[in-house]
Amino acid sequence: MLWLGRIGANPVAVLSGRQHGYQSGAVDGMKLPLRVLKELGCAVLVQTNAAGSLRLDLPAQSLMLLSDHINVAQRSPLVGEGGSERFVSMVDAYDPALRAQAREIAARRGITLYQGVYAWAFGPQFETPAEIRMFRQLGADAVGMSTVPETILARRASLRVLALSLITNMGAGLSNEHLSHAHTLSQAQAVSAVASGLLADIIGNIDALPQYPTA
Ligand code: HPA
Repeated sequence: MLWLGRIGANPVAVLSGRQHGYQSGAVDGMKLPLRVLKELGCAVLVQTNAAGSLRLDLPAQSLMLLSDHINVAQRSPLVGEGGSERFVSMVDAYDPALRAQAREIAARRGITLYQGVYAWAFGPQFETPAEIRMFRQLGADAVGMSTVPETILARRASLRVLALSLITNMGAGLSNEHLSHAHTLSQAQAVSAVASGLLADIIGNIDALPQYPTA
């Protein structure tokens, strides 16, 4: 579902879901939606996800801005495209200026907003404790099953990206909690009010008016 509206100063287009790589094995399921957003004139893609923490000082129910990602799956939605534009730079894929704005707004609201590196695990199974140890050693702070393909597509389309992880659990083996989808949903629900208030404030104040199509 595509919702069109306005948050604060900014017109917004909201997708009420996304396709994940683990649903079919294909990682280009968000190609058309991203193209639609681009054609609508969107200049910024704001993403949210649920993620497991890889750091003992990043507890469940906290919020983490993505500063970077590790494409552990080494899959790309750009495979099969032609032209030199497919060789997209992924440096500063998560826009530094938008992150700074988001952190400023969170600080004003008294919300702790962590920042870290997100590792994309393909899923849908959760990780093994050995995989979690590996991700930690690779330099990741959180792990999840989404977001990275959309970031690649957005950067390919020159959209600026901001992404927020709702930390729903400690990675496998880092705590005694039993991981399940129900647990993820209930933990995400527990932080959703804080997260959505913060997001509305961030989106409403993003200093990046879209370029409207002229025709
Ligand atoms: N691993 C992968 N994806 C996730 C997790 C996790 O621990 N928690 C929420 N999404």
